[in-house]
Amino acid sequence: MGSLFDFPIFPEQASNFAGEMDALYFLLWLLTITFTVLVAIMVLVFSVRYRRGSRVDRSKPVNTHHGLELTWSIIPLLLGLGVFVWAAKLFANVYSAPPANSMEVFVIGKQWMWHLQHSNGVRENNELHVPLGQPVKLTMISQDVIHDFFVPDFRIKRDVVPGRYTQVWFIPTKVGKYHLFCAEFCGTQHSLMGGWVYVMKPDDFQDWLNHGGPRNTTSTPTLADVGKSLYQDLACDNCHGAKSTERGPSLYGLYGKQVKLASGESVAADNAFLRDAILNPSAHPIAGYPNDTMPAYKGQVNEEQVLQLIAYIKSLGAPDPAMLGQGQPASKPTSTGTPTNATAPAGSQGNSQGKQQ
Ligand code: CUA
Repeated sequence: MGSLFDFPIFPEQASNFAGEMDALYFLLWLLTITFTVLVAIMVLVFSVRYRRGSRVDRSKPVNTHHGLELTWSIIPLLLGLGVFVWAAKLFANVYSAPPANSMEVFVIGKQWMWHLQHSNGVRENNELHVPLGQPVKLTMISQDVIHDFFVPDFRIKRDVVPGRYTQVWFIPTKVGKYHLFCAEFCGTQHSLMGGWVYVMKPDDFQDWLNHGGPRNTTSTPTLADVGKSLYQDLACDNCHGAKSTERGPSLYGLYGKQVKLASGESVAADNAFLRDAILNPSAHPIAGYPNDTMPAYKGQVNEEQVLQLIAYIKSLGAPDPAMLGQGQPASKPTSTGTPTNATAPAGSQGNSQGKQQ
């Protein structure tokens, strides 16, 4: 068709947040226009009516009219509060923890591309495939400067910063192809840093995922598999085996548990904590372990490898009794060593507690 009326004023509504966000935006528009027009009309009417020389009755000027003043104070106040309550609720929903059944995808921003990785190891560059109706949680980090993951059709936009994980979630509600942008000026090719999000029917998606993406038909190792070989290459298992030893606490069943620090504080072993503990362990020594035992891996592993190591650690359930050997208790029990991972099966999309923003 291509008539004037097809000109899209709003992007498509392709996520769970889109409809409500547009409705709120429309209300703001409506209120703004209504009051602007109302005030403009009254300015015009009064300035014409009471212009100099016009013959109107000026004998009883109104100095105070409580009813009128209360009306024009209370009505806008209620409207303003209504908008505030609605917007705050929507904001809280957008920033709330993703649903527990979310599919996690890891996003790395770097000058000037998006690198995405699914838990099963399928990688994508500047493209993201997701199934219709499935909550998707993006755990994101930058390898260099600040980027911003923006999908207008989903009404989601979140900074991707170096040094810490940020998270955003959405539920795609419409099959299709949607533009992905970087929305933070990040260098000379910032405007080229974009791509596409493909929302597929669940069956099509499963098929796509099982085949390792459209261009890669060989079976791909999962993120946790890659993390496991990295774990061995870096000799992490010398100190972090199935049970806690004097050299290092066991990492089995650790993910999501509380870890006691030397400072007496307890923190959740989530993505952010594990990343920090790998890159810069001396920043928060673990209770019962000398501060300088664990070498810092900052500069030795990149963000992608950190995510692989975390995926592997996350996949470690309680250790097999056989792995614990002679049934001797760990020589240095710590709060982290308790192998009671009853919540999430290995490699599942267990939700991370204490989500870091
Ligand atoms: Cu990355 Cu702009």
